[in-house]
Amino acid sequence: MKYDFNEIVPRRGTDCIKWDSCDDPDMLPLWVADMDFRAAPFIIEAMQRRLNHGVFGYVKVPESYYESVIRWFARRHGWQIQREHMLYTIGVVPAIAAILQSITHPGDKVIVQTPVYNCFYSCLRDAGNVLVENPLVYENNYYRIDFEDFERKIISEQPKAFLLCNPHNPAGRVWTSDELTRLGEICIRHNVFVISDEIHNELVMPGYHYTPFASISSEFAENSAVCISASKSFNIAGLQLANIICSRERVRVLIDKGININETCDVNPFGIVATKAAYSEEGEEWLRQLMEYVHSNYEFLCQYLADNLPQVSVTRLEGTYLAWLDCSALGIPSLELGHLLQQKIHVWFTPGHEYSTSENYFLRVNLACPNATLRLALRKFCTFLKENH
Ligand SMILES: Cc1ncc(COP(=O)(O)O)c(C=O)c1O
Repeated sequence: MKYDFNEIVPRRGTDCIKWDSCDDPDMLPLWVADMDFRAAPFIIEAMQRRLNHGVFGYVKVPESYYESVIRWFARRHGWQIQREHMLYTIGVVPAIAAILQSITHPGDKVIVQTPVYNCFYSCLRDAGNVLVENPLVYENNYYRIDFEDFERKIISEQPKAFLLCNPHNPAGRVWTSDELTRLGEICIRHNVFVISDEIHNELVMPGYHYTPFASISSEFAENSAVCISASKSFNIAGLQLANIICSRERVRVLIDKGININETCDVNPFGIVATKAAYSEEGEEWLRQLMEYVHSNYEFLCQYLADNLPQVSVTRLEGTYLAWLDCSALGIPSLELGHLLQQKIHVWFTPGHEYSTSENYFLRVNLACPNATLRLALRKFCTFLKENH
């Protein structure tokens, strides 16, 4: 491997949410979805060149930025994005917020597949939308879609939009083209607009394949707004840049207005240079090595639990670096278990409750850290539960 993901980069005291959000100096945080790895050297070099210029005034997003994004998605994912269909804003969550505010009214319903990324709930709440749940079906440590329930709920509840997570956090699924096609056809049949959050798109395990929702057909492109960013895959979320791809002009104009109303239309120069550097041949190689490392952490986790705490099982991880641990055999609700681990062994996993409308028995574990960090957290976790259960 050319890149060293084993290196421990100290992050405490760098004003980072993951390590600096709690006063406990011994806390080992494997919660929020950012990585403990340094950004790729070619990204840092590109940012350094920009930094050396020394002037950081307002930014005009250059054509070369759009070209990098378009080239990347065409080459890697066979998705031909049209330049005029692209909008930008300061993040995927602000993008979702702007889309919901633009295409729905307070009181309108929006369907989501639960459990799901916690900010989906807050975005819906803040837009005054009413949540309609299409719960994912969990069987044998694997999530699948209940298409009948999806269509039935759409017919009975008449949601305006479907907020899709592709790949899915925290279920770990990379939806197949067939699954997305079935969902998209149901939405077209019943006039439901699709908002697809594809921030985890590059974080796919070996053997799985990400399909951009809008790449499936021109009808799907016309009936969707897709949110993308290099932020999650290249660990540059703090640089705050994301794109919305929307073919339908009338909707795109509304979203553009929404972004301006929210005053989230000014991005920073580092997001642009970092994304351009990421979306390169070197970026592809870095990602390949990253996912190899994350995959080996995932295999390590599965084996470690099988050997030391077999009553906790791991949901099959097809994409994202977020493992989803089924702790139901322990019988401790996730919030209580999460608190217990923080207090007793100084390990911070995210309680599954954050991703659901009701309590559950899952913990989400961030695998994007050096193996030594994961190993330490797992050792504490298993020892504690073995001694106390
Ligand atoms: C599904 C999903 N969407 C969006 C985000 C955050 O997006 P941003 O930081 O660009 O607002 C996350 C972060 O974990 C996520 O998991």
